Amino acid sequence: MPSFMEPFRIKAVEPIPFPTEEERRNALATAGYNLFRVPARRITIDLLTDSGTAAMSAAQWAALMAGDESYAGARSFERFEAIVRELTGFSEVLPVHQGRAGERILLGNVLGLGDISVSNTHFDSTRASVEAAGAEAVDLPVPAYEGMPNPFGGDLDLGALAELLAGRSGGRIRCVVLTVTNNANGGQPVSLLNIAGARKLCDQHGVPLFLDASRFAENAYLITEREAGYADSTPREVARAMFDLADGCWASLKKDGMANIGGLIALRDRELAERCAEQVIATEGFPTYGGLAGRDLDALAQGLLEVTEPGYLRYRAESTRWFGEQLSLAGLPVLQPTGCHAVYVDAGLLLDHIPPHELPATAFANELYLAGGVRVCELGTLVFGKRAPDGGPDIPAPRELVRFALPRRVYTASHLEYVVDVAEEVRSKAAQLRGYRIERQGGALRQFTAVLRPV
Ligand code: F0G
Repeated sequence: MPSFMEPFRIKAVEPIPFPTEEERRNALATAGYNLFRVPARRITIDLLTDSGTAAMSAAQWAALMAGDESYAGARSFERFEAIVRELTGFSEVLPVHQGRAGERILLGNVLGLGDISVSNTHFDSTRASVEAAGAEAVDLPVPAYEGMPNPFGGDLDLGALAELLAGRSGGRIRCVVLTVTNNANGGQPVSLLNIAGARKLCDQHGVPLFLDASRFAENAYLITEREAGYADSTPREVARAMFDLADGCWASLKKDGMANIGGLIALRDRELAERCAEQVIATEGFPTYGGLAGRDLDALAQGLLEVTEPGYLRYRAESTRWFGEQLSLAGLPVLQPTGCHAVYVDAGLLLDHIPPHELPATAFANELYLAGGVRVCELGTLVFGKRAPDGGPDIPAPRELVRFALPRRVYTASHLEYVVDVAEEVRSKAAQLRGYRIERQGGALRQFTAVLRPV
């Protein structure tokens, strides 16, 4: 029995596919053994991502109907703007169609050739935006201490930041970015203490501090659980304290916006916001809709109210923790502690007979699909490895992780029990699993299109 109960009941349902074993084998082979290329109609439980996959509430569906589709100055924008201002305290609010549009536009205005952006970890699309501006993305996550779980494993290494700021390239640092929670680093939270420390260093050197606030509510909730002094604060109060320490943010609202599309830029600096608005006009649309329909803005406004509800966030954190515990009991090496949006499993430990260039994390993910139609995301050498300059085996990723991401309000405990059963079956035959070779691949972000072949 799980220790939590879903704080909602189900009003609309969607059947899930149950492809046969033969259909799964064919689907995976046709997809070049790459789960991104498998059609969703061949997936039973889809834990590929928590992005854009949320179930909306009845109130959000009602808000869709009330959406105002005026081209400029729609009521939907006014509602969205008011709710974002109240939540963040930032006066300048620009909607965009999704997170990467926000980061491209804001970072493109802040960074130029030869500049540096420093982060606890740039998410891959954020890194791409930094590099598109001709700048360099430097990641300074806190060092991982093996065997000693860190409650704030998402923090930025403040000592390393201070050193970099004071060093020879310090003058090239044009922004510090805190990704909350730190998706690329196990979905771990960033503490308020760490955000305050980054703020202080930024002030000393005249550098702006931005949040990638895509999972701001989950970060705020984990602070109430884990950081001394905040147990009695509401997630909304903590979120506001996080935003108060920053100069601005962008967010993919496909996560904590609780809707299926959307993003934002929010700032204090009006002049910077005006420059961003010009680019929003050029590439997204008029700044009061930014590539979204009016109804999307209404659903997002309602979603931003719901996502900070303590009962929802408690369920979110406890259901993820419970899922992680069940996988652990089933013998899988689960990264500790679990965060909110996903459980990460170290497939490198499980499949230590497969060398990194034969993609053990992919082998594990693909076997989960073959065994039970479960789709997860590989975060190992296929995503983070680098091609060797001499054409030899790929330079391995630091770890061979797979991410079991949990769409918001979509799957129940019994769905997750099914996933645990499938994972246990795969673990029991781990020693027999074989790796994969890359047959065809693109340049950057090769994981989305690569074609593989079993070894
Ligand atoms: N920042 C973070 C921390 C993210 O996790 C993502 C997306 C983005 C920015 C980009 O936002 O997709 O709306 O353009 N993460 C997804 C994931 C894709 O699966 O983790 P987007």
